[in-house]
Amino acid sequence: MPLSLPTEFRVLVTGGAGFIGSAVVRRLLHESDAEVFNLDKIGYASDLASIGDHPRHHLLKVDLASAEETDAAVRQADPDLVMHLAAESHVDRSIDGPGLFIESNILGTFNLLQSVRRHFEQLSENRRDRFRFHHISTDEVFGSLGSQGRFSEATAYDPRSPYSASKAASDHLVNAWHHTFGLPVVLTNCSNNYGPWQFPEKLIPVVILKALAGESIPLYGDGLNVRDWLYVEDHVDALLLAATSGQIGDHYCVGGAGDHGSPSERSNRDVVETICSILDRIKPQDVPYASLIKRVSDRPGHDRRYAIDSSKISRELGWKPKHSFEEGLKATVEWYLHNLDWCRKVLEKAGYEGQRIGITDQSSVSGS
Ligand code: NAD
Ligand code: DAU
Repeated sequence: MPLSLPTEFRVLVTGGAGFIGSAVVRRLLHESDAEVFNLDKIGYASDLASIGDHPRHHLLKVDLASAEETDAAVRQADPDLVMHLAAESHVDRSIDGPGLFIESNILGTFNLLQSVRRHFEQLSENRRDRFRFHHISTDEVFGSLGSQGRFSEATAYDPRSPYSASKAASDHLVNAWHHTFGLPVVLTNCSNNYGPWQFPEKLIPVVILKALAGESIPLYGDGLNVRDWLYVEDHVDALLLAATSGQIGDHYCVGGAGDHGSPSERSNRDVVETICSILDRIKPQDVPYASLIKRVSDRPGHDRRYAIDSSKISRELGWKPKHSFEEGLKATVEWYLHNLDWCRKVLEKAGYEGQRIGITDQSSVSGS
């Protein structure tokens, strides 16, 4: 049991049927004795296969947009720690339907904060002393970088997509509930996660599945937008450290690492070509997979570059990523290759066939 949590500890994880939340739930179940309450509306991107049946896992199928359901769930969970991951998370979907992002990410966070505040105020002194509300956020709240610099805890907020604006709003609400109502909060802002069990609508699983199906691989715009990639299990390490040892009221930025601790910033073109060359080695076809890469119209408002300075969480909490981008990406490609049935199942359940989403009339076609 490497996680040292107090005895009879109760954790409420929201969004625990999603990509990152399910990795948090698995870790809590396998590495602690905590009772884990998983509050999730079970949306299109949810799946519980990676968790399976476990006597300490309690699913609460609740939509945070409902104040009553949220309140009842918080009372049932009676938590010592809340890890709030539930959110609509895909930028392209926020362009097609921003309303759901406002509802889940802003109203949902508000409802949760109100219920948790009531819960916190009636806890015994002993439990109140150890209680934490951990809000899991994104580097996208900081906006878009040029070719230089990195986001840190001191960077001003400048969100530019409906998704990032809704996450920024939720961060502000969490800070306000701390300063005004004394809720003991910790916030983390992380870069792009990748790894097994990610719903195949985000770049890395999309590229793997399109390549294996022999379909064209869509590269938005000029393909030179840069992201800072972090293997999901390394993010979970950071989350559990921040949740249990983070300073109340503090923010921690979390980002990735490449070979030998170098930065894990990569252009999309670089990521796509690397996936193609891994596939060329492990599942060769007559022609190189890279021949399938096709530039398509850009994402409206496409942020150019994200890069994270993780030095605060490394220095203060001793976190560092264990997986280089090169190792993590290879493991991820292999995982998808061996789990194509799961991909088919979740795509079918979601009614999503891999078509392009998130383009408005203003998007211009750039490239062939
Ligand atoms: P995901 O889309 O895979 O999972 C999100 C889960 O939240 C889903 O199971 C969904 O059903 C649930 N959910 C959404 N709205 C809800 C609501 N109103 N009520 C109850 N449940 C609801 O997302 P993810 O990639 O696992 O991201 C989890 C969190 O981490 C999000 O808050 C996201 O902003 C943040 N984050 C993600 C990344 C990334 O690269 N994926 C990076 C940094 C931060
Ligand atoms: O930075 C953290 C964020 O990372 C999280 O907060 C979000 O929840 C998560 O979805 C992710 O957002 P991105 O928009 O960066 O991820 P996505 O995988 O959608 O896109 C990554 C990059 O790849 C982006 O520049 C757009 C581009 N792209 C994406 C897809 C799906 C393509 O070129 N082709 C594609 O088919």
